[in-house]
Amino acid sequence: MNEIREHSQLGTPIDRNLALELVRVTEGAAMAAAPFMGRNQKEAADGAAVDDMRNSLSYVDMNGVVVIGEGEKDEAPMLYIGENVGNGNPPDVDVAVDPIDGTRLVACGLPGGIATVALAERGSMYFTHVPYMEKLIVGPHAAGVIDITDTVASNLARIAKAEERHVKDLTVVVLDRPRHEQLLDEIRTSGARVKLIMDGDVAAGLMAAMDHRTGIDALMGVGGAPEAVLAACAVKCIGGGMQARLWLRPGDEALLEREGKSMADVSQVLGRDDLCSGRNVFFAATGITDGDLLRGVRFMGDERVETESLVMRSYSGTVRYIVAEHSLTQLRQRH
Ligand code: FBP
Repeated sequence: MNEIREHSQLGTPIDRNLALELVRVTEGAAMAAAPFMGRNQKEAADGAAVDDMRNSLSYVDMNGVVVIGEGEKDEAPMLYIGENVGNGNPPDVDVAVDPIDGTRLVACGLPGGIATVALAERGSMYFTHVPYMEKLIVGPHAAGVIDITDTVASNLARIAKAEERHVKDLTVVVLDRPRHEQLLDEIRTSGARVKLIMDGDVAAGLMAAMDHRTGIDALMGVGGAPEAVLAACAVKCIGGGMQARLWLRPGDEALLEREGKSMADVSQVLGRDDLCSGRNVFFAATGITDGDLLRGVRFMGDERVETESLVMRSYSGTVRYIVAEHSLTQLRQRH
């Protein structure tokens, strides 16, 4: 990773909307994963999405390096951290991929599975081997008032004030995990409502960050660190607020040491711009299973498939919803 960062070209201008190319990548991954919905085959679904995503990324006009990927080279044959993706032309970019966020959701046929990719200037995405981060994500109005080091009650009170609402009117989304028992107690004691999700905190974080009414006002709790970087890219495009901190399980100290970090780094509050410092950030996501954020893939007969995606760019702040109808027959002929 360090070699990659030494050649950083942070600030290289990117003069076209790469997100519009990226959406074809997430659409393809979603269509590849969707036939596995509810079939209880997590690995097969993930494998299909990864294969498709890697293939379609190779056509994108960029010189990309995977910073958030499927794992280290020895454990992930494709889209591994450090892998070069794209056709090799400028711009030089960091790439974050999650061919399926919510693999279990797809395998069980439950709502909220998405395929997602983000890009930003080379050297601008935060990298860690530590698997988890504590996260706090809110919309644009509350972006300036959150403090992950403060109590849940104080944060909710400030979010409510910034949103000109009462705490009891707020809904906080939290991953349904035993580690969140105390957090849930604190949210409930403060009077706010809770939405528990089984998986998929990238989509949930996006909903918390969106200005318009998604029914979610904040995301709190511990989830994947790679998903935190992906969410930060999206939050940056939307203009929402985000803070995160590394979260260690017993034994994770060795991972910290491996990348030259200390316990001081664990207490460091990482803002949205620390997780992704790029000025040109591109984010795309496509629904695999129906969810609150995006509709899932629909097979409509006659080899036609419909997808719904979200495409964003930080430079312009444009958020596009794209509904596309694909012909599987013609897509097969192309390959
Ligand atoms: P995968 O689809 O990669 O399994 O991730 C699903 C997910 O729910 C993420 O959205 C979340 O950040 C992470 O897992 C939480 O990890 P864990 O399931 O270990 O609590």
